[in-house]
Amino acid sequence: MNQPETLATLQASVLAPAYVKNIRLLAWVREMAALMQPDAIHWCDGSEAEYNQLCNALVKAGTFKKLNEAKRPNSYLALSDPSDVARVEDRTFICCEKKENAGPTNNWVAPAEMRATLRPLFTGCMKGRTMYVVPFSMGPLGSPIAHIGVELSDSAYVAVNMKIMTRMGKGAIDVLGESGEFVPCVHTVGAPLAAGQKDVTWPSNKTKYIVHYPETREIWSYGSGYGGNALLGKKCFALRIASNMGKRDGWLAEHMLILGVTNPQGKKYHVAAAFPSACGKTNFAMLIPPKGFEGWKVTTIGDDIAWIKPGKDGRLYAINPEAGYFGVAPGTNTKSNFNCMASIERDTIFTNVALTDDGDVWWEGMTKEAPAHLIDWQGKEWTPAIAKETGAKAAHPNSRFTVAATNNPALDSEWDNPAGVAIDAFIFGGRRGTTIPLVTEARDWVEGVYMAATLGSETTAAIAGQVGVVRRDPFAMIAFCGYNMSDYFAHWLAMGQRIEAAGGKVPKIFTVNWFRKDADGNFVWPGFGDNMRVLAWMLGRVDGTAKGNEHAFGTTPSYSDVNWNGSDFSDADYASISTLDRDAGVAEVKLHAELFDLLKHNLPAELSATKARIEARLAT
Ligand code: OXD
Ligand code: MN
Repeated sequence: MNQPETLATLQASVLAPAYVKNIRLLAWVREMAALMQPDAIHWCDGSEAEYNQLCNALVKAGTFKKLNEAKRPNSYLALSDPSDVARVEDRTFICCEKKENAGPTNNWVAPAEMRATLRPLFTGCMKGRTMYVVPFSMGPLGSPIAHIGVELSDSAYVAVNMKIMTRMGKGAIDVLGESGEFVPCVHTVGAPLAAGQKDVTWPSNKTKYIVHYPETREIWSYGSGYGGNALLGKKCFALRIASNMGKRDGWLAEHMLILGVTNPQGKKYHVAAAFPSACGKTNFAMLIPPKGFEGWKVTTIGDDIAWIKPGKDGRLYAINPEAGYFGVAPGTNTKSNFNCMASIERDTIFTNVALTDDGDVWWEGMTKEAPAHLIDWQGKEWTPAIAKETGAKAAHPNSRFTVAATNNPALDSEWDNPAGVAIDAFIFGGRRGTTIPLVTEARDWVEGVYMAATLGSETTAAIAGQVGVVRRDPFAMIAFCGYNMSDYFAHWLAMGQRIEAAGGKVPKIFTVNWFRKDADGNFVWPGFGDNMRVLAWMLGRVDGTAKGNEHAFGTTPSYSDVNWNGSDFSDADYASISTLDRDAGVAEVKLHAELFDLLKHNLPAELSATKARIEARLAT
């Protein structure tokens, strides 16, 4: 058979449009269709018309409710199955050939064994459903830093979310051309329909598998339709698979927001900041400087993921591989995040928030007073009295909005620049009620890697399981590093060494903790816009103009080193969240020791040496 015939036959066999010319893609779609046996195949072109058509179909199926057009134009509400509300870390697997390459922080199963487990689950899993072929680019279309993925999914909800979260559709197919490479991503809700069987509004399966094969760069997701379990460009590709690609090819895939800060003199800086899920990355990325910081401006490049590559000039350049925000709704309001509230005024998909009587949305923390009556995220009647009696939340704590970056009034002019932005500082932040100071600067790259490696944070509702438990979350990547964490630390150390050896400039590294509490359990630091004060101090350190005090863990500013214009935050309050108690410090390092014991295979010697230095300082 000659080439054009092969192409035509392949296209016809999977009902592909004529513009799809990538033989590998067509053959893979045919093989997957034979395995999963969908009733129909829909190739997503990414057009507005297609988005509207799929949203209308979701409304008809009862998955979406169209919100009041006058109050929330072009927006929808989806309520998930109550058992499918968050990422399932205990069902997430890194299946590389050798267990030690996944490391002790990942669930590992040998690829052959996992394939044998998944094969029967995926066989016929799309019966009675449409298989959406969702081509997407992580990063600007055609950018040398971007990579293409194709997700096959039997969920129209996934297809429309992917349209917002990525550069999705024909453009990605055009980039692929005849022979381009793509990461194959297979997703099913795991709920085939028998002939005549009525569908539910949120199909899913109690059995769940979120599986990555780093060596062959494949993603297979079974049983969940929610967030990072199902929108496979996000955590699965842009972090777990991409971290493997970065390790091999000398770059970094990180759980980081990226923001631009312009000072009153017009000098612009770029900062990338890693925080665990639901710890305020979106708020920080959209910060509005407080009173007293007139002339300062913060702009958003990304709110969740950064791909960072060394430039020829010896600096690190970051892009946001995503095109939208899948942010946590509860707690978001015009005070905590004005720009976010403006972003989601229209064109937004809400998932698991509450519905108001006039067809709009509401969640805890959106307004001071709750509405008198709502339909909650489980579709039940909700009133403040019911909530008082039963504790029922109107919105699920991990309820989300999906919205395009272009809706953000604070979007940085460089957000789509394929070359990325040069990073001046890295920030690592955890959610810690005690111990960790408001801000600490690492004395050098190695100490910064140590700080990030030993980051601790209380768990949040973004993950299925217990909330509020302190766990080590190295680099905020515990759930997202697709290979051995100690090798990942070594990769970070090597990146810094390479840059410094070539005469380049590594960014400064800081840790922050916005979440320290007083004896009554109240947050002491106002956070949100006031985080600008901390940010400004860091930029002063980048420029060499700001002062600080050295202590066992690094350098922290005194009260007088921070700009308090427009604030009445007291010296005493500042002392209560910025001093490091020696006993607490000793206890903290014991937790570092436990982590290092867990990660002892391939743990870089520099990190053990840094720990020993901190212990010696604490002892004097
Ligand atoms: C997210 C997460 O959805 O980290 O970004 O859970
Ligand atoms: Mn995240």
